[in-house]
Amino acid sequence: MILYINACVREASRTDKIARAVLEKLGGEYTEVYLPRENLKPLSEEKLNKRTGLIARGDYSDDMFNYAKQFAAADKIVIAAPFWDLSFPALLKLYIENIYAVGIVSEYEADGTPHGLCKASEIIYVTTAGGAYVPDYSFGYIKDLAENCFGIPKTTLIKAQMLDVVGFDAEEIVANTIENIKI
Ligand SMILES: Cc1cc2nc3c(=O)[nH]c(=O)nc-3n(C[C@H](O)[C@H](O)[C@H](O)COP(=O)(O)O)c2cc1C
Repeated sequence: MILYINACVREASRTDKIARAVLEKLGGEYTEVYLPRENLKPLSEEKLNKRTGLIARGDYSDDMFNYAKQFAAADKIVIAAPFWDLSFPALLKLYIENIYAVGIVSEYEADGTPHGLCKASEIIYVTTAGGAYVPDYSFGYIKDLAENCFGIPKTTLIKAQMLDVVGFDAEEIVANTIENIKI
């Protein structure tokens, strides 16, 4: 199963447009999680206590683990997230907070080293930026999580940048990015 995690809030999102071209190249069949519609909430103390208790008992039957189970079972994951404030929309961080369940996406060795439990062979991270794209706090973070915590060995970045800078033709840049998708 290909999982599409869509963190694009704008209807005319260029990031989503590129991501859908990627998904078409991958075969066109995918399960989409459209984050703006998912009613994700930050972990409260109450929810955290409940989650910690369930994990300690090895009980993963609660619905709160559904996102984590879906993520861990995916064969390939495409994330679409525009470049916001040197990073990505908070919705994507909320999603990560909600999937990071020990025992489903990751487990820990005796020395504290995480060991990934996810099945996916790759995360393809698609982004667009108004100016020059800096990967440190967006793609870089997802890559570290994938490789060091989730056990997903490959992360690929597909990006279009300078889309909001006067003098640059955004439509052409997006079209070129789509034409040059290599996956
Ligand atoms: C809240 C917000 C924050 C942004 N922050 C940045 C930024 O830090 N650097 C940048 O180059 N562009 C920034 N932009 C511009 C977006 O990255 C750019 O317009 C992008 O293509 C939007 O993606 P979309 O068309 O998929 O919505 C920001 C836009 C918004 C709405």
